[in-house]
Amino acid sequence: MNNRKTGILAVVLIAALVIGIRVFGPNTPSVPDGQPMAEVTVPELTGVALEGQAVFTANCSACHGVNATGLSGLAPPLVSPIYRPAHHADIAFILAPLMGVRAHHWTFGSMPPVPGVSEADLKKVTVYIRELQRANGVE
Ligand code: HEC
Repeated sequence: MNNRKTGILAVVLIAALVIGIRVFGPNTPSVPDGQPMAEVTVPELTGVALEGQAVFTANCSACHGVNATGLSGLAPPLVSPIYRPAHHADIAFILAPLMGVRAHHWTFGSMPPVPGVSEADLKKVTVYIRELQRANGVE
C-alpha cells in the first residue's frame, strides 16, 4: 500500500470513529439535561386537582417538571404509561414522597423523601396526576 492510500484510509477510519462516538457514544442524550421529557396537555382541573397542582409545583416540579413532564437528567415524567393506575396504584404517589424511592425504573438515581408534605396533600397530588394522565391518554 502506498503512502497516499494509507493516508486516505487513516482519515476515513478516524472520521468513522468520530462519527461512531457521536452517534453511539454515551454522551449523546436525546434531550439536553433539565429539559421536559414529555409533552403534557393540562385539562381543566377539578378543585382538588388544582390544590394538588399547587402542592406539586411547590414540592415536586423542581425534579419532575412543571405538570409532571419529567426533566432530563433529574426525574421521570409521571404522565407516562409506567405510572398508570394498573402499574403504580395511588398509594405509590403517597409513599414515594414520604419514604423516598430507591432508583429502579430509571437511571436518575434515588428520590429522597420530600419533607413538609402531608398524606392529605399527597392525596390531592394523586388526584391531579391522575387527571393529567387521563387527559394525555394514560389510563
Ligand atoms: C430530588 C428530586 C425529586 C423530587 C423533589 C421528587 N421526586 Fe419523585 N422521583 C425522583 C426520581 C429520580 C424518581 C425515579 C426513581 C426510579 O424509579 O428510578 C422518582 C420517582 C417518583 C415516583 C415513582 C415511585 C415508584 O414507586 O416507582 C413517584 C410516584 C414520585 N416520584 C412522586 C413524587 C412526588 C409526588 C413528589 C413531590 C411531593 C416528588 N416525587 C418529588 C425524584 C424526585
